[in-house]
Amino acid sequence: MSRLKIEFNVLDRQYRMYADEYKQAAIRVLESGQYILGQEVENFELKYAKYTGSKYCVGVNSGLDALVLAFRALGINKGDEVIVPANTYIASVLAITENGAIPIFVEPDEYHNLDDRKIEDAITNRTKAILVVHLYGQAANIRKIKEIVDKYNLFLVEDCAQSHGSKFDGQLTGTFGDIGCFSFFPTKNLGAFGDSGAIITDNQAIADLVRMLRNYGSKVKYQYEIEGVNSRLDELQAALLSSKLSHLSELTQDRVRIAMRYLKEIKNTRINMPITRDMVDHVYHLFVVQCKERDDFQKYLLECGIKTQIHYPIPPHLAECYRRLGFGMGDFPITEKYANEVISLPLYNGMTDEEIDYVVEAVNKWSK
Ligand SMILES: Cc1ncc(COP(=O)(O)O)c(C=O)c1O
Repeated sequence: MSRLKIEFNVLDRQYRMYADEYKQAAIRVLESGQYILGQEVENFELKYAKYTGSKYCVGVNSGLDALVLAFRALGINKGDEVIVPANTYIASVLAITENGAIPIFVEPDEYHNLDDRKIEDAITNRTKAILVVHLYGQAANIRKIKEIVDKYNLFLVEDCAQSHGSKFDGQLTGTFGDIGCFSFFPTKNLGAFGDSGAIITDNQAIADLVRMLRNYGSKVKYQYEIEGVNSRLDELQAALLSSKLSHLSELTQDRVRIAMRYLKEIKNTRINMPITRDMVDHVYHLFVVQCKERDDFQKYLLECGIKTQIHYPIPPHLAECYRRLGFGMGDFPITEKYANEVISLPLYNGMTDEEIDYVVEAVNKWSK
């Protein structure tokens, strides 16, 4: 019988950490009478741009929309090729195909991120951009990737849905390329209380274009210059995000504290612990370990009362929706091995020492 029940994530804990501030922010919006594209969105955009050291931030409705509109703003469309990690969440790839472009998958390195050593082989005369995903909260080898981008004169888009605050050599992810794309889905390190996302950029033309695209293609009410969409960040989420952003560094430290305990205290030869690249500040969006008997391990943890998740069980090239791309099992063996072996342990803001102790103890006791 399990002593404790450990959820994979408990979102109300992080809400309770700063509940009074969130309540104040929510009431401020509710009482303002302005719910879409008002002062709160402007304030958050300024605040997030400042936090990232970027010139512009444009709030949108989700992380997926941030990516879709980023590629649209860069003019990437039918027939263009975009290099994307094979080991990523489906949204990274959907953003490419939504624009009619072709995803060119490249295998991951030992850090689970796009392997920069394999990118050049994937470049053709149709390649327009590289989409880097800083997976699990760890920056990819972005300097090397930027060198390749510059050498071949490509666009660089960064998917930072999992990497708020993660740095490479002291520089924040999202600021290396043409556009950084963020999700503020509630489970993310900077999570809203509903769907939302944003792009950051130093390029004013791109920022202006995304600003128009997110609002039906309009700058001036009822004047539609381009065919846009409705993908606006709402006032309520913006106000809540502004409050949370003030605490992002404490929230990140809390995640790192839990990760450090796992790294130090989990000792089980059947489990491979995550490794961090030199010069990278990992923000541990997810704590992903690897293990050959992953399914047995997951079952065992569940019997102990510990819930885990798999990020991700089916790689995009094998997803049902991409059958038309013609890939099969064995095409990206490293990615497929990860899909079979990775498992994410519970790690969330507000996790207690007792809960961490319990996870460590259970993992260490797992034996054949
Ligand atoms: C790597 C990655 N890219 C993009 C997204 C899409 O973000 P959203 O769920 O806000 O659309 C997510 C989040 O789910 C993600 O993990």
